[in-house]
Amino acid sequence: MAFYYDQPSRTFSEYLLIPNLTTKACIPDNVQLRTPITRFRKGEIPFLQMNLPMTSAIMQSVSDHNLAIALAGCGGISFIYGSQSIAEQADMISKVKKYKAGFVDSDSNLTPQHTLGDVLRLKARTGHSTIAITENGQSNGKLMGIVTSRDYRENQMSESEPIAGFMTPRQSLVVAMEGVSLAEANETIWQHKLNCLPVIDKEDRLLHLVFRKDHDSLKEHPLELHDSNKQLIVGAGINTRDYKERVPALIEAGADIFCIDSSDGYSEWQAETIRYLKATFGERVKVGAGNVVDREGFLYLAEAGADFIKVGIGGGSICITREQKGIGRGQATSVIEVAAARQEYLDKTGIYVPVCSDGGIVHDYHIVLALAMGADFVMLGRYFARFDESPGRKVLIGGSFVKEYWGEGSSRARNWHRYDHHSETKAGKLEFEEGVDSFIPYAGRLKDNLDITVSKIKSTMCNCGALTIPELQQKARLTTVSSTTIVEGGAHDVIQKERSSQGMAQGR
Ligand code: XMP
Repeated sequence: MAFYYDQPSRTFSEYLLIPNLTTKACIPDNVQLRTPITRFRKGEIPFLQMNLPMTSAIMQSVSDHNLAIALAGCGGISFIYGSQSIAEQADMISKVKKYKAGFVDSDSNLTPQHTLGDVLRLKARTGHSTIAITENGQSNGKLMGIVTSRDYRENQMSESEPIAGFMTPRQSLVVAMEGVSLAEANETIWQHKLNCLPVIDKEDRLLHLVFRKDHDSLKEHPLELHDSNKQLIVGAGINTRDYKERVPALIEAGADIFCIDSSDGYSEWQAETIRYLKATFGERVKVGAGNVVDREGFLYLAEAGADFIKVGIGGGSICITREQKGIGRGQATSVIEVAAARQEYLDKTGIYVPVCSDGGIVHDYHIVLALAMGADFVMLGRYFARFDESPGRKVLIGGSFVKEYWGEGSSRARNWHRYDHHSETKAGKLEFEEGVDSFIPYAGRLKDNLDITVSKIKSTMCNCGALTIPELQQKARLTTVSSTTIVEGGAHDVIQKERSSQGMAQGR
């Protein structure tokens, strides 16, 4: 006979936190958000920890190398999407590992044969006003010159004018050679009053650009997450099909941690993948798994050796799995039950397996709720897709900027690995979608938004009398709310004047 849960499953918005005593030491400056991401034996130090309890979703519209660099700079980890070729994913991983703060890969490039019209269109699309001109138009081509808005007069020159006629040519540029340190590059920028310094190799090929505004980038990122070689930490999404080829290539590229990406992780395929990777590469390979929504799913993957376990089915903003297949569970209930199972596993084995709450974060306070309910960190898609650093296009619609955001289960992503059950017949084709293609409001730079989110998290933790995430998990007192309590919680019965964007929830 089928089993019935007789209580409805709940979402984050159905809970609030009740304050505990706030001691005088409990101020946001004293709160620290360090959290484990890999399993560890009680009393020992986890192999890998983050300085921020946030990871970015394994999605084409969220986690590429640019977002990974920005997030690691703030203390979190991106899992670069696996729904691309092994070579493309390895290339993104190696871009993160090779990244040096302040040394930017030039991603707006043209050739001397392009025209002013091409410059204006590229500028409108990317927002970049410095364009490197290379022999082949590639970011690593031979440097021929630079174009900035000081090189042309818009509306007074023909758009068909070739770039060769107005760019600042290579021989007039101050450049730095490969191997230059950031301090030396900044000194050159100051001495020559430059805005941008190209770094080239002996063959004149462009390697990086150093911008004047990046001068303080090191001071701006005190929580940067890096390995012992001072390279940024980066994760990678993998699937249960081609892991035998994909994982070695990604290890070679420098990936620090993997996560098996599936809409339903309670499967023999996941256990087999984890066991193979641990047997082949040993404990140095760290593998998260999921997604699960209950005790049984958690214990199954913990037993198989998963380093962390991801929770959530159908709660993501672009997900339609629940509508399409009737599979899933309210995110809050799932996290609460899985966290209890984690405690059970800890009591039995002495091993702590970090839990990640994945999807369904609409407001910043949902992050604190997830942590209070027992998650060690969260994974977010929509949140990060809104920023400059995400891969989606920025588009102007109805006078407002929006960014593209599409689900991995949409036909646009074509990520059939994430949803199928190893049937051989439908390779490369989704029979029905489990996600949508959408727009979301554009929100600017990742760091600016993250700073606000983090200050809200810390402030709430102080209300709960907690200076660390484990303390929050221990002390938090949660209450369910009625629909009228939710109405009471927003501004009500007033005619609102304009609200500053900082005070507004980041959600809908
Ligand atoms: P948010 O709410 O942060 O959720 O946008 C991101 C998470 O949603 C999952 N995901 C999907 N789930 N269909 C689904 O059912 C999809 O197309 C899809 N794409 C992403 C994933 O867990 C992600 O981290």
